[in-house]
Amino acid sequence: MNVNLLDLKPQNAALEPELREAFLRVLRSGHFILGPEVERFERALAEFTGAKHALGVSSGTDAILVALMALGIGPGDEVLCPSFTFFATAGCVARVGAKPVFVDSCPVCFNLDLRDAARRITPRTKAILPVHLFGQAAEMDGVLDLARKHNLRVIEDTAQAFGATYRGKQTGTLGDFGTISFFPTKNLGALGDGGAVLTNDAALFERAKILRMHGMEPKYHHAFVGGCFRLDALQAALLSVKLPHFNGYTENRRRNAALYTERLATLPGVRVARTADCGCAKDAAAGEDARVVLPVAYPHNGHIWNQYTPRIIGAGRRDALRAHLTARGIGSEIYYPLPLHEQKCFAALGDKPEDFPWAHRLAGEVISLPIYPEIPPDQIEQVCAAIGDFLTTL
Ligand SMILES: Cc1ncc(COP(=O)(O)O)c(C=O)c1O
Repeated sequence: MNVNLLDLKPQNAALEPELREAFLRVLRSGHFILGPEVERFERALAEFTGAKHALGVSSGTDAILVALMALGIGPGDEVLCPSFTFFATAGCVARVGAKPVFVDSCPVCFNLDLRDAARRITPRTKAILPVHLFGQAAEMDGVLDLARKHNLRVIEDTAQAFGATYRGKQTGTLGDFGTISFFPTKNLGALGDGGAVLTNDAALFERAKILRMHGMEPKYHHAFVGGCFRLDALQAALLSVKLPHFNGYTENRRRNAALYTERLATLPGVRVARTADCGCAKDAAAGEDARVVLPVAYPHNGHIWNQYTPRIIGAGRRDALRAHLTARGIGSEIYYPLPLHEQKCFAALGDKPEDFPWAHRLAGEVISLPIYPEIPPDQIEQVCAAIGDFLTTL
């Protein structure tokens, strides 16, 4: 039987009557942009996360853009962000005219290496943009310490980690801004594009709200240049249906991650990443003692497992495993095959592949396996068996 990397249909099918009702409510209201549905969803988001303010926006990308704009970051400014992340993180920095200054990643938690971040601070550094990659929080105490010491603003790219916690607090609520994506593959997925910005600062919230609508306040008066960053009423209504089910989705993802780890860790040459090796704290073990290193959740983190991403050690082996899985009808994905410091559009920054050794290496080692909440456990067993077969060929 084929195993899909992701199948959104069962989750939505289970909610079809409520989603239809929400659709009809919006259809009949005739109110399609912002308005009461968006405000209701924003209140629910603020309540869920504990953030003082939540603002619905058009995507996770636009959420980062609005946050940068609200903080007044622009030409001449530098923003620290990881190289090993989705493009939008650094793309938004470049779009406001600032310079993305890439930072290497930790091979254990895949997040910002704080020692490397500290080394790259200059008098022009205005902000740090940690990403909570794959659903696990970056080391936020260290990020906030660095920010305090160097007077930096903090934007948490929480696109992949809505609902994840760091020392009991929701990711996205610890910095000046948290930015969320409701892209359909995310743990809380809309039926189209959507995003949100979280903040505890009333003045920043007001600024972001004005920027969401072309910097317009009052009507047809523009003190700032903003954009069209609005969340549709329809997406807000559909997301309001899904939000109360979110904790159930997370439970299933955690169960799935635990099943992968339990099954895969028994295979020869496979071990779980050691939290003590975290590059954020000290020199990381490279993993040469293993053929496969499984991802780990830190005890102080509530990981929401947007991805389950092992590292396959050894040149060419990750791609060979992917081909092996594809041949057996098993979906997988490489997040991300080329780190941002090696992207053509950032060539003018002058970074070399070896400047960020872990970001470069992780791009060749990682593979994300099917982990969506509704995947039947026997399909996970099938994936693990296929990986076991692959290991016997090495
Ligand atoms: C880390 C990260 N940042 C930002 C985004 C952008 O979110 P969106 O696709 O909603 O614009 C994504 C989406 O995949 C992401 O993974």
